[in-house]
Amino acid sequence: MSHDPDAPVLEFGGTTPYEDYVQADVLTHLQHPLSDDPGEMAFLVTTQVMELWFTVLVHEWQTAARKLREDDLEAAAAALTRSTYEMASLNASWEPLAHLTPAQFNSYRSALGDGSGFQSAMYRRVEFLLGEKSSSMLVPHRGSPRVHAELEKALHEPSLYDEALRFLARRGEDVPEAVLQRDLTRRYEADPGVEAVWVRVYRDGAGSVAHRLGEALTEVAELVWRWRNDHLVATRRAMGAKTGTGGSAGVAWLEKRAAKQVFPELWTARSHV
Ligand code: HEM
Repeated sequence: MSHDPDAPVLEFGGTTPYEDYVQADVLTHLQHPLSDDPGEMAFLVTTQVMELWFTVLVHEWQTAARKLREDDLEAAAAALTRSTYEMASLNASWEPLAHLTPAQFNSYRSALGDGSGFQSAMYRRVEFLLGEKSSSMLVPHRGSPRVHAELEKALHEPSLYDEALRFLARRGEDVPEAVLQRDLTRRYEADPGVEAVWVRVYRDGAGSVAHRLGEALTEVAELVWRWRNDHLVATRRAMGAKTGTGGSAGVAWLEKRAAKQVFPELWTARSHV
């Protein structure tokens, strides 16, 4: 049989170059549902897809932080912009889980045991990069040396916001010394001096480098807030006010998390412009 010269290549010596690059065979055999419920597959894969997006976000925000450290705003802004497109995709991934009834969720919930997204190490790195540092969040990972070591390193590194504020300080903005010297292993707390910087930038600085950075970070912060809220609403639909598999108060606990904003002064400054 003669081969159509316009058709793709069919013969390979070993595995296909696609497989060598994508590792699709590995990726598509990592799904091991724990119940007989046909809906569990979508729950498991959505969770895995989100873990992959968290991995990409960590990569983008580490890149953005490094580029800010090097005073390369163009490259930092490009990474932040890519991350917002990726977050739109991450957030759209809620759709398969956004309409679960309690009975549907119950049909595989018990199979999850004590497993909860709260134990996601990659999500913790996402939060650390956003300034939500907490050493106690390392405790669940003591049993996984590699994961624990990565988290420990991330705990001590400046967050994306720390790097943004240092960048602004180098460009002459009046960022308080106490903020620049803060204990990086602690949660970032809003500071009136930083709010004053953003007020000035938003009042007088349209088109400036600082203004551009502020808007790029605001875009990220809004999409983070949307992820948290979509998670909250999906949870409320799927399990009402029941206790979470991770042992928290469930929706009440998630409500508190979702009420918070990352890069807080970028939001409060708007009231004073
Ligand atoms: C309908 C499906 C889901 C329900 C009902 C649900 C429920 C919950 C609950 C109740 C918590 C609080 C901690 C606990 O006690 O377990 C939580 C935390 C969390 N969940 Fe989900 N979840 C769902 C889907 C997902 C998916 C698909 C992901 C993706 C990885 C995810 C990631 C997380 C993360 C990262 C946390 C910790 C949040 C934080 O530390 O602020 N959840 N979830």
